[in-house]
This record gives sequence, structure tokens and C-alpha cells, in this order.
Amino acid sequence: MDQIRITGGQPLHGTISISGAKNAALPLMAACLLSDKPLHLSNVPDLADIATMVELLENHGVTVEQKPAEDLGLELTLTADGTLNPTAPYDIVRKMRASVLVLGPLLARLGEAIVSLPGGCAIGTRPIDLHLSALEQMGAVIELKEGYVYAKAPEGLKGATIRFPFVSVGATENLLMAAAMADGTTILENAAREPEISDLADCLVSMGADIHGIGTECLVIKGISNFKEATYSVIPDRIEAGTYAVAAAITGGSLELTNMRSDHLGAVIEALTRAGVNCANGGASLSVSHPTGHCSGFDVVSQPYPGFPTDMQAQFMALMATADGASLITETIFENRFMHVPELARMSADITVHGGSAMVRGHGSLKGAEVMATDLRASVCLVLAALAAEGETVINRVYHLDRGYEQLEEKLRAVGAKIERVSD
Ligand code: UD1
Repeated sequence: MDQIRITGGQPLHGTISISGAKNAALPLMAACLLSDKPLHLSNVPDLADIATMVELLENHGVTVEQKPAEDLGLELTLTADGTLNPTAPYDIVRKMRASVLVLGPLLARLGEAIVSLPGGCAIGTRPIDLHLSALEQMGAVIELKEGYVYAKAPEGLKGATIRFPFVSVGATENLLMAAAMADGTTILENAAREPEISDLADCLVSMGADIHGIGTECLVIKGISNFKEATYSVIPDRIEAGTYAVAAAITGGSLELTNMRSDHLGAVIEALTRAGVNCANGGASLSVSHPTGHCSGFDVVSQPYPGFPTDMQAQFMALMATADGASLITETIFENRFMHVPELARMSADITVHGGSAMVRGHGSLKGAEVMATDLRASVCLVLAALAAEGETVINRVYHLDRGYEQLEEKLRAVGAKIERVSD
């Protein structure tokens, strides 16, 4: 298995171009199942999770044409005009939880979907009960057996008013796609407001859907039966941008992040600023710098958008570990998202976890060590810690990084990091 080796202590300087957002591209790709016309997507990041979604869609009978874009990423044309297979098998779904996003569009289009349950996951139990009960409210009959969701709507899905008991990104996406093709009007209340939701809604509108309230917690969707050919560009990845912003701060460097949307990073920029990091917001670019790499202690609480993103929590923990003074992270979205703590401790970080909160006693420096990546964001937290640490860090199980960071080593090396991948 590949390892990443990093020799820390190099301030990073230069420009990093941000890739398309993985978490936006995945639901957009699933949306092709609603239509028999081609969906052309650009700014799709070239990542393992995207390859998994391609494999899943091809398994459903979608024709996928892909070519590399001129600079970064992929261009995809997805056409679901043949006979479609309603089954999403365990072998593919187990690789990526976001596979469950095919449930809503398949059910709406075919009146039937058989989707493997995604199962447990390193960052918590992550059930899909909200997805299922909302689809039931639209008339679906759902049965769980042998690890699969058997969903049927022989008369088609019917518009309904659905109030989510709490905010779920995936459930909002699944229901948005289902409602776009249902009979009548659906109102989704307490919907997630993440930029990836608005991106999906905007893409569906470009395919002909009728959606109001985009960007708010109440989405009103009038179902249609025929979608049109559409061309759509995926939004930039706010989590990748936030990760490189932390890389600039933690190394005492200065990075200009380009091809991004700084308006999607409000809570992250606000937290960095509180920590004493200089952030100059240029709209489609962001300049981030810190003179020493040792920020002041600060607190963050993860919350649904527009709050501080749970997907930036691990990266901020690395920054806090090198800060002067204590910081507190409170994780409110996932119940078990502190697996990076013991690995950071191997690098001499001083962190105590109490339930959903982690007290990080920053003491200025980290030391290189051999560590293990446990999930996507936890892996990149170790990369950030290694960039700041004294000496060499070896990170094992780096396949997690390949799921979510396009050309990570190349991008970091180009701004001065000493990073290499070692293959067995
Ligand atoms: C998405 C993102 C993930 C991010 C998360 C929260 C993708 C592919 N992944 O994940 O990177 O960390 O949003 O911003 O976009 N829950 C239930 N029942 C459900 C659905 C969710 O209990 O039916 C719980 C989850 O276990 C979790 C919370 O709700 O505790 C939020 O999860 P959700 O917003 O659904 O996350 P995902 O869509 O899985």
C-alpha cells in the first residue's frame, strides 16, 4: 500500500488552483438517471470517488464518456437513455456511501430501486432513515431485507410536504432528485443549505426542473416528466480550498488559492481570522498567510452550512495543535469524528476528548512520526500536521486521500512542500 512521506518545516508559498467539488459532482452525476438526454458536466475532479460513481452508473446502464479537461479534472457526458438496471450492488456501495444518492432518481424514473445499505462507516453509524421515511411520505413502499433497500412506487412518486427532523445533506439531495420527477409539488422543509445542494438544484433547473427557494431551508419543487440535455460546471471544492488555507497558515507561508468561491468559505475564513491568520478575500481567489505558523488558540463548533463545516474539523485540529494556547473543537454532526486524535498524539499533539468536544492544548511544535490515515479528512489533517512538524512523517493508508484530493502531492510540491509518495 502506498505511503506518503513528508519532511516538515517548509513554509509554503505560491498559487494553488482549486479543483471541482467532489461532494457536488457526485449528486450531479446521479441526477443523470432522471433523464434520457445527455448531461454534460465539466470541472469534475479526477478522484477515486468519481471513478466509483462512474462504475455505479455504468452498472445501472448509463453511458459515460469521459475526457481529461485542459488543466485539471474531467469532463463527463452521462446518458441514461437505454434500459436501466434498478440495482446498486453492495460491492460498489460499500466503497462509497454517496452511492445511496442513486435511490431517489432511480425510484422516480423507474418506479423501483434496489440499493445496498451503505453500512457502518469510520465516522459514525450514518443511517439513511431520513432518506427512506421522506421517500415513504412521497408514496414509496420500502422494505429492508438482506442488507438491501427495496423501494417501489409503481404508481410513481407523489408530491408531498416533508419536514426533515434535522438537517441532512444526502437526504435533501436524494429527495430533491426524487421530487424533480414526482407527480405534483413537493415542499422540503428544514432542507440542508450547503452550496453542494444549491449546485444540484441549479443543475436540475438547467435540465428543466422547476425548483424555488434554492439556497434556503425551504425548497419547493414542481415535478416534471421530461428533462432536457444540459451542460453544467461543478462548483469549486470549498473543503479543498479550506484545507490549503490551513496549509498556508500552519507552515507560516502565504498561498493564493484560485478558481474558488470564497463566499462558500465564510465560517472557515472567520475562524482563521480569529486565530490570527491573514485572509484577503478576492471572491474567486483567497490569499492566506501567517508570519510564523503559530496561531492563537481559538474555538470552533461544527454545524450545518452556513456554520463551520464538519469536513474542516480535522484540519483545524492540526492547526490548533501548533497554536500558542488552548483551543476547543465541538463536533455536533458526527458522533465519532475524532479518530485523528490518537494519530496527532503520535506527533506529540496534546489533545483530550470529552464526548463531542476536543480540548487541544497547543504548544507550538509537532514532531514527525509514522501515522495511519483513518478517513478522508483525518488523512489530510495528518498531511497538514506533517507539513508543520519537525522531521519526517510517514502516513500509511493514503488511499483515503485519493478519494477526495486531486493531485494533492503535485499541488503541495509546487508550492514548496517536501512530499513524496512511496509505492510498495
Ligand atoms: C455529506 C458529505 C460529508 C459531510 C456531511 C455533513 C457528501 C458525499 N458527503 O454526508 O462529506 O461530512 O454531508 O456536512 O456530500 N443522518 C441520519 N439519518 C439519515 C441521514 C443522516 O441520522 O438518514 C445523520 C448522520 O449520521 C450525521 C448527520 O445526520 O450524523 C448528518 O449527515 P448528512 O448531512 O446526511 O451527511 P452525508 O450526506 O452522509
